[in-house]
Amino acid sequence: MLIKKPADIPPSDITSKDLYLNRRKFLAGAAIAGTAAATGIGLRELAFPSSLVEANAKIDGIQKSSFNTTEKITPLKDVSNYNNYYEFSTDKYGPAGLAKDFKTRPWTVKIDGLVKKKQELDVETIIKMAAPEERIYRHRCVEGWSIVVPWVGFSLSELIKKADPLGQAKFVEFTTIYDPRQMPGQKLPVLDWPYVEGLRMDEAMHPLCLLCFGMYGEVLPNQDGAPLRIVVPWKYGFKSAKAIVKISFAEKQPVNTWNKAAPNEYGFYSNVNPTVDHPRWSQAKERRLGEFFKRPTLMFNGYDQVASLYNGMDLRKNF
Ligand code: MTE
Repeated sequence: MLIKKPADIPPSDITSKDLYLNRRKFLAGAAIAGTAAATGIGLRELAFPSSLVEANAKIDGIQKSSFNTTEKITPLKDVSNYNNYYEFSTDKYGPAGLAKDFKTRPWTVKIDGLVKKKQELDVETIIKMAAPEERIYRHRCVEGWSIVVPWVGFSLSELIKKADPLGQAKFVEFTTIYDPRQMPGQKLPVLDWPYVEGLRMDEAMHPLCLLCFGMYGEVLPNQDGAPLRIVVPWKYGFKSAKAIVKISFAEKQPVNTWNKAAPNEYGFYSNVNPTVDHPRWSQAKERRLGEFFKRPTLMFNGYDQVASLYNGMDLRKNF
């Protein structure tokens, strides 16, 4: 996102590994190197290890949800080998290997700020707060790629109701674990650690906003944000913070990490909006991982049911 590339290629124009590997089947070895050298893409991919798909524990009792898209689900191997997780690496193929031994138990989440009772909850207690649901959501990265993932979790509102925030609480802030010994990326000043994200209370309470601990019927792979993350499907992917250790309620709008890093590029709201370009690239289209042709990006990523949350707001100003 903020990483400078040799040539200023919009991230949406960088070929995904999957696409690259498919194309590879049709090209002779020498031709690939030539293509990669000529286009400036693909050389990185040549150096990557083969896909890592870790088998995780199955989650029992998963219920169906009425929020599911019927679009084709992106294969797990693509989703779990192409991750933005700067705590591990700025290279999207890095987190799958680097997060392999990341410890997700024991794990507690601090609930603090403007709540009736500040407390520290074990992740197991949180996971049992409501029945797990499968939510098949579109997920659009600000960089121009998208995926369709069957996440497992329940509406964040279930936890918020139990946390019992005070009337003055207008925002919710999510903080990722800070542990540079386990997360090599945190040894580098790429971002101001720990990673922080935030939502307005009505956004956080919207039933689509998911507290997530699984995907594809199994416990979340570490690189996808285990043991607990949020998934906000109508916003660009960076709003969906991974490996959460603190949920805090506040009166003031939180300063989210990417907004702090580049305020003119990444706003607080970050609703998917094809009419508001990123200063360095268009947001009108996206490339689904594994597909060649781009498709139009939809307002709110197609989740029109959230539109009323923004009635009367200028979404160009509040990007
Ligand atoms: N959460 C943390 N803690 N660190 C990160 O670097 N990257 C974000 C988001 N959550 C990120 C994060 C971005 S930019 C995206 S697109 C999504 O995670 C990617 O989620 P995925 O790897 O499960 O697809």
